[in-house]
Amino acid sequence: MAGVGENDQTMQAARPEIYLNGHFMPPQEGKVSVMDRGFLFGDGVYEVIPCYGGRLFRLEHHLQRLDNSLHAIRMQNPLDRAQWQAILQRLIGQLPGADQSIYLQITRGSTGKRDHAIPTGIAPTVFVMTQPAVYPDAAALATGIKAVTLEDNRWLRCDIKAITLLANVLLRGEAMEHGAAEAILVRNGYATEGATSNLFIVLAGEIITPPKSDHLLPGITRDLVLELAQQHALPCSEKEISQQMLDSADEIWVTSSTKEVMAVVELDGRAVGNGTPGPIYTRMAGFYGEHKALLQAGRILS
Ligand code: PDD
Repeated sequence: MAGVGENDQTMQAARPEIYLNGHFMPPQEGKVSVMDRGFLFGDGVYEVIPCYGGRLFRLEHHLQRLDNSLHAIRMQNPLDRAQWQAILQRLIGQLPGADQSIYLQITRGSTGKRDHAIPTGIAPTVFVMTQPAVYPDAAALATGIKAVTLEDNRWLRCDIKAITLLANVLLRGEAMEHGAAEAILVRNGYATEGATSNLFIVLAGEIITPPKSDHLLPGITRDLVLELAQQHALPCSEKEISQQMLDSADEIWVTSSTKEVMAVVELDGRAVGNGTPGPIYTRMAGFYGEHKALLQAGRILS
């Protein structure tokens, strides 16, 4: 009979290789220094990029946001677009045709000591992995999720996709303690976004999402939903969402690379609309699904 260690090794051997600092290797061989500033300070940024049937979703948008996050923390992108393409294509090529989720992370690296001061001239730590992903199916989209509102107690640079996610982790944990899948965050009486997603409401037939600011992450899925609303002539606008607007919304949606567009059917224990995904949501989820199908068929590029 195989021992536990052997089983572990067999399972790990079957997992796709990762990329770490210029090399591809099995995940169990990836080692990072305990002095890495990502480990000590959460000093780094990340991206999560969906891959549908072997096609990367909105790659250029994700790489542009990565550049913006790096710039905001005074770092430069260590790789150019062609190098990113080569790394990502090699990683996703390990699971041909599969739906996957790419996680990439860049930290400021290590000087060998713990010192808050930002060092110059050190090599960043670059880590990328792909994992098989199960995106929401028709049944999940038709069911929706429960959410609760919580006070947004995060810092004021939520526009940076920083690996420092403790506040988000605690907020999501609190939501789960209330039996909800997501927390909708409220700062000074205005809803900003979810703990792990962006926020949309439908009020009097208009789709509304808060404008980009340092209070929220400029979501790639959010931008596509706005594009699709415009393409299909659905009334939409970017404006602040007060707690009162949220409470009286006919529909509430959250968007992210992993959730795609998901209806919130219950907020703080009360039904949103009639407690099922609303008619405008259903249209948008259809448009989103069509966009994915075009990407998978190679009829659009991102
Ligand atoms: N998070 N806002 C927050 C706080 C998020 O963490 C995310 C996504 C989004 C949506 O962004 P996008 O549409 O680009 O995925 C908004 C990812 C999925 C994560 O941390 O795993």
